Amino acid sequence: MMTKSTNSSNANNPIICAIDTTDVAKAKNLVQSVKGSVGAIKLGLEFFTANGADGVNSVTGDIPLFLDLKFHDIPNTVAGAVRATAGINAFMLTIHTSGGKAMMQAAAEAAKSLPKKPMIIGVTVLTSLDGFDLESIGMQNDVKYQASKLAELALDSGLDGVVCSPHEIETLRQQCGKDFKLVVPGIRPEGSASGDQKRVMTPKEAIEKGADYLVIGRPITEAKDPAQAAKEILSSL
Ligand code: C5P
Repeated sequence: MMTKSTNSSNANNPIICAIDTTDVAKAKNLVQSVKGSVGAIKLGLEFFTANGADGVNSVTGDIPLFLDLKFHDIPNTVAGAVRATAGINAFMLTIHTSGGKAMMQAAAEAAKSLPKKPMIIGVTVLTSLDGFDLESIGMQNDVKYQASKLAELALDSGLDGVVCSPHEIETLRQQCGKDFKLVVPGIRPEGSASGDQKRVMTPKEAIEKGADYLVIGRPITEAKDPAQAAKEILSSL
């Protein structure tokens, strides 16, 4: 499990609610309604670019935060960006594994210098890319191979885990061991709309396969009663 100095999400609740908006008031309302039923919330590039660190702090209060900014730059710049999150106090940050080993090591090292060490989680292959897209940027035309190779490199570089699709959980768990965190989007409770997510899985199945955290957006945020939707997902696990 997490070390004592590591920031963490609410105990025993693996649900991270993705708040995908630029609207501070809307984000605040959502956080207020779901904060007792989820382990953490996720704010990403959209919200951060519009509202900055002050905007982030104004909505999070004491709920654990996954700051999903997917850093990708030279090692020195990424390390600086990780250190620059000190005033935000996120328990989890993302970087792109395709930035390479030195970049990942620099990010992992920088995280240790923060007052509360966040987990550094690697993005492997974006789920919006398929084999043709990979080939067009000069990579292996095999998404699974590429994701698994990048996860291995993330582990070797000292990252705490990776973001992965529900269908990669079993392979990556076997490959990277039990302590490597698997953060999994593309989750849909039984009977809910899949939206633009193509390869979905239920929360229960994903946890059974070995997911540590479930990133769930619209099934909670677009429900009539977001708190109730989150509670139902939690009790289904
Ligand atoms: O609304 P939904 O449950 O599809 O939201 C999932 C969240 O996870 C969104 O914030 C989305 O950007 C994020 N995500 C994803 N697939 C990835 C990485 C992140 O859906 N591979």
